[in-house]
Amino acid sequence: MDVIICPDESQVGIVSAAKIAKLAAEVGPKVVFGVATGSSPLATYAELARRVATGKLDVSQAQAFALDEYVGLPHDHPLSYTDTIRRTVTEPLGLDPDRVHVPDGRLEGLADAGERYEAAIKAAGGVDIQILGIGSNGHVGFNEPSSSLHSRTRMKTLTQQTREDNARFFESLAEVPRHCVTQGLGTILDARHVVLVANGVGKAAAIAAIVEGPVTAMWPGSVLQLHEHATIVVDEAAASLLTLADYYRQAYESLPAWQRLDL
Ligand code: GLP
Repeated sequence: MDVIICPDESQVGIVSAAKIAKLAAEVGPKVVFGVATGSSPLATYAELARRVATGKLDVSQAQAFALDEYVGLPHDHPLSYTDTIRRTVTEPLGLDPDRVHVPDGRLEGLADAGERYEAAIKAAGGVDIQILGIGSNGHVGFNEPSSSLHSRTRMKTLTQQTREDNARFFESLAEVPRHCVTQGLGTILDARHVVLVANGVGKAAAIAAIVEGPVTAMWPGSVLQLHEHATIVVDEAAASLLTLADYYRQAYESLPAWQRLDL
């Protein structure tokens, strides 16, 4: 696991986007992104969009697979992840909307929504670069604590903590859906590279647990310790509980030239 500690949120966006762009250039124009919703990756998407606009990143043939979707919200609901991904990823980066996929959270067809999504990811050749945020309880996608570390895309029940965290976007807590369809932890582990971003002191406990704690279903993001190519990009506040923070700083500062990022 590589941990990169940045001074602030905007630098998290710049550094994570540089890492993603470097990986995307290595894959080529048919790169397959995994994309997350939430506020954490917004600066990353803005920076990726800037790179597309300046011709430094070619996404004309790229595909994208969202991590998750609420159950029961119509696709055009502004808080559905279908609409959120359209606004925050597809349009700013200029991705072809037909190549951007989101799990199907509609009630009809829910039983096989996971299987269909897994098949679509497989047909695309798998995810090359998975972009992740993290919940304050350590969830990635919507894989809540106690999720199987081998799980695949399926319906999950949201925890009260997650519903409360996400209630800020809705009119009231009662309106936050109770269920979702999310890529599983096994699905996420299949991505060839993972780049997780986190900001703020509210994420510090989760970051310390997933980077330095035991691999446990109680902190689902800790499964990334089993991934060969996981990069964690955090601001100082989110890094504040990391025991080996100085080591991560030294490692990043002394990267050999071929591993350095073009910021
Ligand atoms: C939601 C999403 C996650 C995201 C998390 C954190 O629960 N399903 O993918 O990482 O929120 O959101 P934020 O980045 O806004 O803190």
